[in-house]
Amino acid sequence: MSAPPLEFLVARRFSRRALLGGLASLLGASRVARAASPPPSFAEVSRIVSKRLILPDGYEAHVVAAWGTPLVAAGGAPLPADAADQALRVGYNCDFLAFFTDEPHAAERTTAGLLCVNHETVDDRLMFPGVTEAGLTREQHRLQMAAVGHSVLDVAFSARGGWQVRPSSPRNRRLSALGPACLVSGPAAGHPRLATRADRKARKIVGTLANCAGGTTPWGTVLTAEENIEKFFRGTPETLGRDAETAASFGLSMTPAFAWWKADPRFDLTKEPAEFNRFGWIVEIDPRDPRIPPVKHSALGRFKHECATTVLAPSGQVVVFSADDQKFQYLYRWVSRDAYDPTRHHGAAARTLLTEGILSVAHLTESGSLEWRALVAGQGPLSVAAGFRDQGDVVIDARRAAALVGATPLDRPEDVVAHPDGRIFVMLTSNDERSEVAPGSPRPMNPYGHVLVITPVASSRGPDHAAAAATWDVLLYGDDPRLDAAQRSAAGLGGAPAASADGVVVCPDNGTLDPSGRLWLTSDGAEYRSGVADGIWMLDLSGPQDTATTRRFASVPTGAEATGPCFTPDGRTLFVSIQHPGAGSTWENPSTRFPDEDPKLPPRPAVVAIRRSDGGVVGG
Ligand code: FEO
Ligand code: CA
Ligand code: CA
Ligand code: CA
Repeated sequence: MSAPPLEFLVARRFSRRALLGGLASLLGASRVARAASPPPSFAEVSRIVSKRLILPDGYEAHVVAAWGTPLVAAGGAPLPADAADQALRVGYNCDFLAFFTDEPHAAERTTAGLLCVNHETVDDRLMFPGVTEAGLTREQHRLQMAAVGHSVLDVAFSARGGWQVRPSSPRNRRLSALGPACLVSGPAAGHPRLATRADRKARKIVGTLANCAGGTTPWGTVLTAEENIEKFFRGTPETLGRDAETAASFGLSMTPAFAWWKADPRFDLTKEPAEFNRFGWIVEIDPRDPRIPPVKHSALGRFKHECATTVLAPSGQVVVFSADDQKFQYLYRWVSRDAYDPTRHHGAAARTLLTEGILSVAHLTESGSLEWRALVAGQGPLSVAAGFRDQGDVVIDARRAAALVGATPLDRPEDVVAHPDGRIFVMLTSNDERSEVAPGSPRPMNPYGHVLVITPVASSRGPDHAAAAATWDVLLYGDDPRLDAAQRSAAGLGGAPAASADGVVVCPDNGTLDPSGRLWLTSDGAEYRSGVADGIWMLDLSGPQDTATTRRFASVPTGAEATGPCFTPDGRTLFVSIQHPGAGSTWENPSTRFPDEDPKLPPRPAVVAIRRSDGGVVGG
C-alpha cells in the first residue's frame, strides 16, 4: 500500500511549530510570530463581476475536467446524451477535490495522480435546452441522477497540454445516485429506520448524492459529505412519523428543487419514507481500488455534512471534524475508538477505523472556551423517553441529539481546515437571521460570515484534538467591500480593517492550505450578498494572527462559486472547482459561457488547474 497522503507527512514536518503554537495558545499569547511563509508574489485581482475567471497577471487556468468530459476513449459529443452516457463522463456541479499521488518526488515536482471530484447538484435549465414548466423527461431526470456523486480521475501533467484526464485509464470511475451500492457501517447499519422494501436488512444503499465538500484519511481514502439531501426527495415531515422533526429541520417539501421522484420512486418519500434516512452521511471511497465498495459511516452522524476533515490525535486516534451547513446548526467532532496503525490499517482493514468511536458536538462559551459534548444513547438527555433507544437513533437524529446536549448554534458552518500547527479553522459562511451576539457569533447580524479558529489543548506530544476541551477565537471576519472601514464599524461589521476592497472576504465557504502552510479561502455568496465576484483569497498565517490580511487571488465567473481548492504537493498547481457558472440563467440565455465560450454550449461546471506561467509555486 502506498504512503500516507502528503498532508499527513507535512503534519509531521510541522511538529515543532505545532508544539510552539499549542503552548502559546495555552499561555494566551495571541501575538506569536510563526515561521515566515514566502511573501505573496501576486497582485490582487478585481472584485468586479464578469463572465470569466480572472487571475493575477502571470497566472493561467486550464480546464482539467468539465461536465461531460469523457472517462473512456472516443467521447464523441461534448455533452452526455442520456444516463448511460453520463455514467461514463464527469458529473455536474463539481465541488470538493482531493489529489493523490504515488510519485516519490511529488513534493519537488508533481506530474501525475488521481484527482477525486465531488458532484454536488444539478441544474434543470442549464443542463438541457427548451425546459418548460412541465419539467424534465424521465431520461433527463435519470441523467441528472448519474451526474451527481463523485468522480475519480486519472490525471497527468505535460508542459504542452497541462493537466488532463487520461481518457482510457481503468482507474477513471464514477459514483452517482444510481450506484454503486454503498455498505453501511456503525450504529445505523441494519437499523429499522433505514430499512426499505428493496433493502430490508438496511445494509446496502444505492448511490450517494448532494456530495459537497469532504476530506481525506491517513490511509489514502476520500470522505465525501452528503449535504443538502432534501433537494432530491419529495415528501412532508408528517409522512415520516418519528423521523418528522429532523426531516422538518432539513426543509423537506413536496416541491423539491429536483423532481427526481417523477422518475424513481426511491425519491418519493410518500412511497418509501425510510429512503430519507439513507442519505446525509459521510461516505468513504477508496480511489485506488474500485473493488472496495463505498461505505456510509453512520457513526459520524447524519446531518447536512459540509465536510469531513481528519487529523490524528497524539494517541493515534482518528479525529474527524464535520460541520452542519444550515443557519443555527452545529459543529461536530468524531473520535475513533482505535488508534491508526499504518502497518495494519490499509485497504479494507482501514475502513473499520471509522466504525467505532464517539460523536460529539461543540459547546462554546462567551469566555472563549469550547467543550466537546458526547452524543451517546442513554447518557444525559439522550434517553429512551426522548426517543433514543439505541445509538442508531442518536446518529440518525444527530441534530436533535446535539440540541438536547446544548450544542452551540452557529452561522452556517461550512468547511473545516486543520493546520499542522494544531489550529482548526471553521468557515461560517453567513447567517442573515441572526439578531444578537452569541458564543462563536460575535456580530449581531452576520450577512458576510467569519472564520473561527479552534485551538485544542496541548499535550506533551502536541495538540490534542481528542481532548474534551479547546478554546475558540475569530480568525477573520467577512465583510461588505462596498463599505469603508468607518461605515463597516458603524454598521456593526468591523471586519478586515487592513484588507483592500478586493481583499475583503465575503461569505467564506471552503478552505485549504498550500504546502507552505498559507490558508486559501473560497467564497459562496459574495455576488449575491454584495455584488462582487465570488473568488479565492490567500491569507498568510505566519505573522501575528491579528494582523493577518486576506488578498484576492481570483474572481470566478458570474453565478459561480469556487469550491474544493486543492494544491499539488509541489505547490505549483492549484486545482479548484468552478461550480454552477451561470446559475440562475438558462441554456437559451446563459449569463456566461464559461469555460468553452462556444455559442453551441451552455456554461459547464469545471475543474481547472491554476498555474503560474513560469511554472513557479502558486502564490509565490
Ligand atoms: Fe454545499 Fe455548504 O455548501
Ligand atoms: Ca460548500
Ligand atoms: Ca455550493
Ligand atoms: Ca456554500
